[in-house]
Amino acid sequence: MNLTIFGSGYVGLVTGACMAEMGNHVLCVDIDADKIDGLNQDEVPIYEPGLNEYLRRNRLSGRLEFTTDVDKGVNHGLFQIIAVGTPPDEDGSADLQYVLAVAKSIGEHMKDYRIVVDKSTVPVGTADKVRETIQEVLEKRRQLIDFDVVSNPEFLKEGAAINDFMKPDRIVVGTDNPRTAELLKALYEPFTRNHDRMITMDVRSAELTKYAANAMLATKISFMNELANIAEQVGADIENVRVGIGSDPRIGYHFIYPGAGYGGSCFPKDVRALAKSASNGGYKATLLETVESVNDRQKKRLFEKISQYFDGNIEGRTIALWGLSFKPNTDDIREATSRVLMETLWDAGVNVRAYDPEAMEETRAAYPDQSKLQLCMTARAALSGADALAIVTEWQEFRSPDFDAIKEELTAPVIFDGRNLYDPKMMKTLGIEYYGIGRGQSVMTTD
Ligand SMILES: NC(=O)c1ccc[n+]([C@@H]2O[C@H](COP(=O)([O-])OP(=O)(O)OC[C@H]3O[C@@H](n4cnc5c(N)ncnc54)[C@H](O)[C@@H]3O)[C@@H](O)[C@H]2O)c1
Repeated sequence: MNLTIFGSGYVGLVTGACMAEMGNHVLCVDIDADKIDGLNQDEVPIYEPGLNEYLRRNRLSGRLEFTTDVDKGVNHGLFQIIAVGTPPDEDGSADLQYVLAVAKSIGEHMKDYRIVVDKSTVPVGTADKVRETIQEVLEKRRQLIDFDVVSNPEFLKEGAAINDFMKPDRIVVGTDNPRTAELLKALYEPFTRNHDRMITMDVRSAELTKYAANAMLATKISFMNELANIAEQVGADIENVRVGIGSDPRIGYHFIYPGAGYGGSCFPKDVRALAKSASNGGYKATLLETVESVNDRQKKRLFEKISQYFDGNIEGRTIALWGLSFKPNTDDIREATSRVLMETLWDAGVNVRAYDPEAMEETRAAYPDQSKLQLCMTARAALSGADALAIVTEWQEFRSPDFDAIKEELTAPVIFDGRNLYDPKMMKTLGIEYYGIGRGQSVMTTD
């Protein structure tokens, strides 16, 4: 099949690569000419395991092409997939300008029937807006061309995106047109060969399903972080509590890890956008607002612990930081906890020596003039001469580090672990002062 994908970011590139891998002819359109030039020379703008090989193989086979030519894009694919960003607006709601710009372009250039597939995460009612935008442009052009608008939210996880797309646990399609549903079923059939995983529903429910999934996951994290803070207060170990509750099949072990808060390009903005769209309609989404505020507070926990440890006397000190990306196996630092920690440390006059296996360039680009940031080539180099080590991303290489090196390089052996990677008892045996999240050592100091 012929497909056009608007937006060559995390979702667009993975979708394009995987669709081409299945034999489709995919044209990726982006307004960023430098990005498209790079992609045409096998320069992949993001780090996602396995993506480079998929892109290269399919580009060389001729099944995957990249362009800035919108007209070519609109007239290539029966399916016009929208995978552009929906960043938060100033008030927290989803900014639809990029989605609607694509809709306008489709209306301006289409000559035949098209199925417009919305893969971007968008508030309920956006498919109607996309339909109206295309219809208005067609009317201006005095053209009577049939088209459909479908919601097909994407559930891939950065860091495991290729696997998620190739072996999806579900494909949600929102449409009231049975014929369009059949065409989408045919498009996705190669990805669901052992059993059908397509869930078809009305458009509005599909749009809400994506927000519901992210809000549920964010809620689980904030719940565990709330419990972690209570565990600290009462002298319990949240890791024991986690295992104790996870064994209940109604609760389960997935996604109940306490830590230094969630970040990334999805959970924070989607929880906020859902709460905002509810309040626009006159409903106060108290739970969602609290999930967000618990997370905002949690992102400051490591700083509080560091500051408390040094009795507030932290100006002029140096902290080694392991991990900058919002989670392992990605270079994405959007809304990452590392940023909150670094920015708070800098405000308090603290220098940061940071290391991340993949997100160094992104960090350099985000803070080009920050004199209190030193990006170090290795995890060990980041430790050199620092007063303590803070960990915010659970990259595998941090799971079993050389503890002797940590003791040698730091001025005193102290670890603030925002992902509970190590065993407190083992740290004690090694002579390392160790502060995790929810492990019974310190009392909450904030409201
Ligand atoms: N990143 C994820 O893990 C993930 C997962 C599921 C869903 N989503 C959702 O998918 C959408 C895309 O997310 P992303 O992380 O891939 O975004 P991204 O910021 O990585 O990429 C968006 C791309 O769209 C391009 N673009 C903007 N306007 C355009 C236009 N008019 N025509 C063509 N291209 C245009 C930008 O130049 C950019 O390359 C968002 O709504 C996001 O919430 C993201």
